[in-house]
Amino acid sequence: MLNAFAKDIIKTFPLGFVATVTPDGRPNVSPKGTFLVLSEDKIGFADIRSPQTIKNIKYSPEVEVNFVNQFSRKGVRIRGQAKAAAKGTDEFQKLFIDWKNEWPALADRINAIVTIEISHVKPLTTPPYDDGVTEEEMVEIYKQKFREIYP
Ligand SMILES: Cc1cc2nc3c(=O)[nH]c(=O)nc-3n(C[C@H](O)[C@H](O)[C@H](O)COP(=O)(O)O)c2cc1C
Repeated sequence: MLNAFAKDIIKTFPLGFVATVTPDGRPNVSPKGTFLVLSEDKIGFADIRSPQTIKNIKYSPEVEVNFVNQFSRKGVRIRGQAKAAAKGTDEFQKLFIDWKNEWPALADRINAIVTIEISHVKPLTTPPYDDGVTEEEMVEIYKQKFREIYP
């Protein structure tokens, strides 16, 4: 389900904005910077301090996550069913190894690993691409903008 483009974005920019719904129907979006690609149809993140997201997925497991490459201004929207494996369970232990390897400094604070079984993947592009701007040009523009912010 995830193509090479989607996998590459998640690996390079593992910051996904996770949209869930609260039990009383309110939208809830929060960023998670610990995403890993687990397979063609599964991604996951570490719950370190995301109490509302965890509550929400227990009540309503369908989530949408957006990833964006801030330089190319391209990204991916992923929809699927989320499930939290809590610390202390066998499922957690199996998954945890990958997160511990990638983020050793955060490992002790991980309460759960949330996996998302993917059902839909849609590409995202910024509207200037509709006018013929190339990816190379886009990257140059944003390298410059980021340099202005952090010279
Ligand atoms: C850039 C960034 C990355 C973050 N990554 C994570 C993460 O991987 N896991 C996590 O639990 N919280 C992460 N956070 C913190 C949560 O987004 C934050 O605690 C949020 O308020 C949780 O809201 P929620 O309870 O509605 O999910 C991150 C925050 C930022 C700004």
